[in-house]
Amino acid sequence: MAGAGEAKGAGGLVRSLYLAMRSMENRVGGGEGIEGIYGSITESGVTKIMEALAEFGGMDKSSTLLDVGAGLGRPLLHALVAYGVKSIRGIEVDPVKCQKAKVFVEKTLEMVNKKGTEAELEADEDWLQCRSIESLDSLGPTTHVYTFWEGIPVVAKEALGALFSESATCKAIAVVQRALRNKDTLLYLDQLGFTGVEVAKSFPVTMSGSGRTFRAYIICKCGVPRFGSTAEREKAPVLDALASDEQVGEAIQQKKRRGGVKSARGQKHSQSSIPFMKIKKFARARRQKS
Ligand SMILES: C[S@@+](CC[C@H](N)C(=O)[O-])C[C@H]1O[C@@H](n2cnc3c(N)ncnc32)[C@H](O)[C@@H]1O
Repeated sequence: MAGAGEAKGAGGLVRSLYLAMRSMENRVGGGEGIEGIYGSITESGVTKIMEALAEFGGMDKSSTLLDVGAGLGRPLLHALVAYGVKSIRGIEVDPVKCQKAKVFVEKTLEMVNKKGTEAELEADEDWLQCRSIESLDSLGPTTHVYTFWEGIPVVAKEALGALFSESATCKAIAVVQRALRNKDTLLYLDQLGFTGVEVAKSFPVTMSGSGRTFRAYIICKCGVPRFGSTAEREKAPVLDALASDEQVGEAIQQKKRRGGVKSARGQKHSQSSIPFMKIKKFARARRQKS
């Protein structure tokens, strides 16, 4: 497996890649387009993300990495050079960025290959699809996903959540966004349609240029689903605002009996406390009414 160690061995080439990308970005007139924002995470941030995808999500030389909102394709090139992933793919809605990205990736790889790589590094001719993630039916042979989805609309995030969860091949996704302060990360992901997932790791990363801090969440299909599938949840009886005190009591007893679930990697998770907090709040409101 091309794990973190192997990526460190490719350090010199990764340095050459970043120099080549800087030069090519200037030549294509920067990464801006006509839609959404443009921005990339620094080299050290992307290195940490790729290392985590390798360590927790098993990304290696047999992997296909997809960048949703690919911009110029910088993180994909990093994965190709540092991890030798089998294939890179990108989805980008902005036609101007797409035009730039095709030239950027082709020419950057030419420059890196001149440095003398073990094997010729290349991207498939059709590596980039110029369309929105919402218009996709499936993630195809993708095994790993990267997305710096700041500025991407919620419907697009929901579309990705459903596609990722439905995919039989996807193992892990790295999501970069503003830190979810005081939020239950798994509940947030569940609301976006990511079911049966576990947050393997999260850490701060910095945006190139602006220096803004974001957070990378490494999410794997490696745990015991805390919420079950969306379909299961829809079938489950919902304790609503009219929940009786007996129902609330029974729910709390059930929670105590369940005690928590163990993830595949042996970490202990408590069942979601949020539904119970809601139940308590509803019950209190009901008592106040009567
Ligand atoms: C913050 S940039 C990230 C660029 C690149 N992934 C990187 O890290 O260097 C987000 C990108 O998502 C694209 N985007 C926005 N909405 C999208 C959608 N619905 N489907 C696909 N791409 C989208 C934007 O045009 C923008 O290029």
